[in-house]
Amino acid sequence: MTPRTLLLTGATGFIGRRLAPELAGAWRVIQASRTASGAESVRLDLEDGDSIRRVFETARPAAVVHAGALALPDDCERDPGLARRVNLDAVRTLAGLCGEAGARLVHFSTDLVFDGEKGWYDEDDAASPLCVYARLKLGAEEAVLSLAPGAVILRVASVYGRPLGTRPCFIDELRQALSKGEPIAAFVDQWRSPTCGDQLPAVVLLCLADPDLEGVFHWGGAQRSSRFETALALCRAFGYDEELVRPARADDKRFLAARPRDTSLDSSRLSAALGLAPLSLEEGFARLKLKPALASRNAAAAGPGA
Ligand SMILES: NC(=O)c1ccc[n+]([C@@H]2O[C@H](COP(=O)([O-])OP(=O)(O)OC[C@H]3O[C@@H](n4cnc5c(N)ncnc54)[C@H](OP(=O)(O)O)[C@@H]3O)[C@@H](O)[C@H]2O)c1
Repeated sequence: MTPRTLLLTGATGFIGRRLAPELAGAWRVIQASRTASGAESVRLDLEDGDSIRRVFETARPAAVVHAGALALPDDCERDPGLARRVNLDAVRTLAGLCGEAGARLVHFSTDLVFDGEKGWYDEDDAASPLCVYARLKLGAEEAVLSLAPGAVILRVASVYGRPLGTRPCFIDELRQALSKGEPIAAFVDQWRSPTCGDQLPAVVLLCLADPDLEGVFHWGGAQRSSRFETALALCRAFGYDEELVRPARADDKRFLAARPRDTSLDSSRLSAALGLAPLSLEEGFARLKLKPALASRNAAAAGPGA
């Protein structure tokens, strides 16, 4: 049987590069981004509505996974006009196309929609974004919910994984310094629930496989962890000297885009729906040491008791 077509935006991004090869087992994946090249790839400019329509109408996808975005909060703060075009207007266009064509949409969003005053947020907690990036991502969620019936919105958080392509994740810089014996500063007053990137293909595939699943869902890691605790877990996983991790306070630092204190996510709702447990930092970091294929197989296989 010919597999159905799935349009993957942001295919050259940190998350997109993890998704593309794994989704290709079940779908004919059209990889789209500004710089996409190669077989089954298409150039897409999210700033240009005509480009989005052209790509969509050529691909005629049964499903769209939207992982394209201007994904760094400080970039959005620097150029809010560009951020609006890419992170909100493009989502409206894409969600509208999905709605009209009956294509299922899986859309990536962020833990930063919360103001960080409560922590361990579930999907019923009210969002209250603090920066341009987060306000636009929340607006995009609203557009998806109103324009694309049956869509799944995945709020993920500080995604980590082994390097693929050119985009680094937050642990790359830490590992670079720690592996050379250089000290690093890590915040004791900023909490997240980092998401293991290896698990995202399984999460997306399971969401697509369940036609009844729709709405906003959280997919972080299994625990709430300060940046400091996360760095210590990284040291333990890779045998770096824990003394190199120096406590620092986010409160003492100025960021271009405001950073909420605690946006840790409670992912139990989606975990129960999919029958898949989010990985702890220890489990996720252990997978970074495995061969890529084995790591994603293990991440996918982690059941609710894992
Ligand atoms: N990574 C995280 O920790 C994290 C956390 C929370 C939420 N998210 C969300 O997850 C999604 C994916 O994030 P990511 O980390 O994978 O982002 P990323 O590594 O920065 O990748 C962004 C992708 O979007 C594409 N893109 C950017 N501007 C575009 C444009 N004008 N036209 C077409 N394509 C464009 C890029 O294409 P080119 O490579 O061709 O430029 C790239 O493929 C985003 O919605 C982000 O908000 C990510």
